Order: sequence, then structure tokens, then C-alpha cells
Amino acid sequence: MKTSPRLSLNNGVLIDQLGFGLYKVPSADAAGLVTMALEAGYRHFDTASMYGNETGVGKAIGALSGFAGSGAGGGSGEASPSLSREDLFVTTKVWNDDHGYDATMRAFDTSMSNLGMEYVDMYLIHWPCAGRGLFTESYRAMETLYREGRIRAIGVSNFQPAHLERLLESAEVVPAMNQIELHPWLQQDELRRLHDRLGIRTEAWSPLGRGQVLEDPVVLELAAAHRRTAAQIILRWHLQLGNVVIPKASSYARIRENLNVFGFTLDAADMAALAGLERGHRTGSHPDNVN
Ligand SMILES: NC(=O)c1ccc[n+]([C@@H]2O[C@H](COP(=O)([O-])OP(=O)(O)OC[C@H]3O[C@@H](n4cnc5c(N)ncnc54)[C@H](OP(=O)(O)O)[C@@H]3O)[C@@H](O)[C@H]2O)c1
Repeated sequence: MKTSPRLSLNNGVLIDQLGFGLYKVPSADAAGLVTMALEAGYRHFDTASMYGNETGVGKAIGALSGFAGSGAGGGSGEASPSLSREDLFVTTKVWNDDHGYDATMRAFDTSMSNLGMEYVDMYLIHWPCAGRGLFTESYRAMETLYREGRIRAIGVSNFQPAHLERLLESAEVVPAMNQIELHPWLQQDELRRLHDRLGIRTEAWSPLGRGQVLEDPVVLELAAAHRRTAAQIILRWHLQLGNVVIPKASSYARIRENLNVFGFTLDAADMAALAGLERGHRTGSHPDNVN
């Protein structure tokens, strides 16, 4: 199967546009799913300290023969033998309780120890938690780690325009990414335009609306017309908009299906039909309500 195209972040680091998300995957299952996803052709993985599965993710990646830490993590030994750590893109995130300079430094060390890695490709502030007033301090810690070469790209998640504005008043490194809830029922046009102006990539979390948007009649109609599945139509829409996208799935069939989206194109009328589905529907929390 064809693997994902790569996009350049604002510091030149490349990222697979289509990756694999691991929210709500128990750590015991994470190694098996990551191994399956590697076999299917995924090279980009999205975890977070809050997901509690960094250890499982690191175990599958540590099992790759070219991985410097191979053996230490006691991997399953089933992952593709021709891959090494450098072929992969791994994102993790600092959780809300670890905001602040020192706390973020400690949280990063814990994540690296869980992952069994020397560096991470991207580190994100999971939520701005504006009420705590500490995200600029967390970001300062991330800039230090970035300069030390322990993180290849730094960014944020769930940042609203006002949070980005506040961050950019003190940041020395423009965030490479803002990972936000984004799917056909919540299209985030304002943030996407702002990201484009600032050189920040948009990454869509819950790109399938946690499965809810798969039932939308317009999506189903397009799926029938293209002889594709609803998930493939939605993921193709994301790719054509330029979003980085990280669907989560629990079976090998779905993992493969979600990656098999490079052999067809949605035309302008299809894209317009999907643009018409905006309804301001959130499947997760509004960032202003998370503190
Ligand atoms: N930064 C943040 O605050 C934040 C918040 C939420 C999520 N995320 C990230 O975004 C990733 C994706 O979001 P998500 O997991 O919430 O939701 P999602 O990827 O939009 O949807 C996942 C749901 O869709 C189902 N599904 C996947 N592929 C399918 C297919 N081909 N056919 C039918 N059903 C399919 C899955 O079922 P099965 O699992 O049963 O296969 C699961 O129930 C997360 O895993 C996480 O990495 C980040």
C-alpha cells in the first residue's frame, strides 16, 4: 500500500500527513496496534502522557531492528525489520497538570523514559488551560528542549486564536503545529486561515468526529459515488484541505482502510458538498472549558 505524503513543518522537519492516533488505546493494546499500523505503512504516531500508553508505543517502536534502543524495551519483535527510529515521526504531549517551566521539564523526561527514546519528533502543549496562566512557561521549557535537540518540532494543541496571540508575544520559536478538533461538522475555518498566515500546520484530532460523521448522509452519498468508505471520503477531504490527520482505529482492516486514501480525488463539487456540513459540532471539550 502507498504510504502517506510528507509535509514540511515551518522548521523544515518532514511529517507524514496521515498518521495514527492512540487516544483511548490501553497501554497493553498500544504495542500491538502500533505494530499493525507500521506493517500497514503508517510512519507517524500520536500519543500523549495523558493517554497512559507511551510505554506500549515505545515498545513497538523499540522492537524495530534499526532502533538504537532496540532490546531495552523488550519489544514484540514483529515490527517491520527494515525500519529504524529515524523513519518514524512520534508526537507526545505535556498534560495540564504539568504546566510551568520545571514541571514541563520533568514531564518531558517521564515521557521519554516511558517511550524509551532519546528524542521525540514533536512535543505539544495538550491544552492551553488559560486559567492556569502557565502555558508560556511550558513553551519556554519546550524551546529549551528543542534547542538541545531532544525535540525536533514544538507546537500546541487546542489553542484558540487568543491563546496563539498570547504565546507569540513571548515565544522565540513559532509553533510548528496546532492540533485541534476538526472534521466536516467542525471545520475550524478561522483557525485554519490564521495558521496559514502564521506558518503553523493544522492537525485534525478526531478527524472522523469519533466515528459520528461516518453516518452523515452527504458523506455516505459521496462514498457510494466514489466506491469508497465514509472514512476514506472524510480522510481524503482532510488531505486535500492540507490538514495533518491522525485517525484512530482498532482493527487491521480499518487501519489499512484509513491509509488507503491516495488513489482517488474529490472534485470541487465534492469538496463544496463537504464544506456545507459545518455545524459547529464538538465531540470533545471546548478549549475554554479545560483548565
Ligand atoms: N489533542 C487532543 O486534545 C486530542 C483529543 C482527541 C483526540 N486526539 C488525537 O486524535 C486521534 C483521533 O481522534 P479520535 O480517536 O478521538 O477519533 P477519530 O479518529 O475521529 O475516530 C475514531 C473512531 O472511529 C472509528 N473508526 C476509525 N476508522 C474507522 C473506519 N474505517 N470505519 C468505521 N469506523 C472507524 C474508531 O473505531 P474503532 O477504534 O472501534 O476501530 C473509533 O471509534 C486520537 O486517537 C488522538 O491521537 C487528540
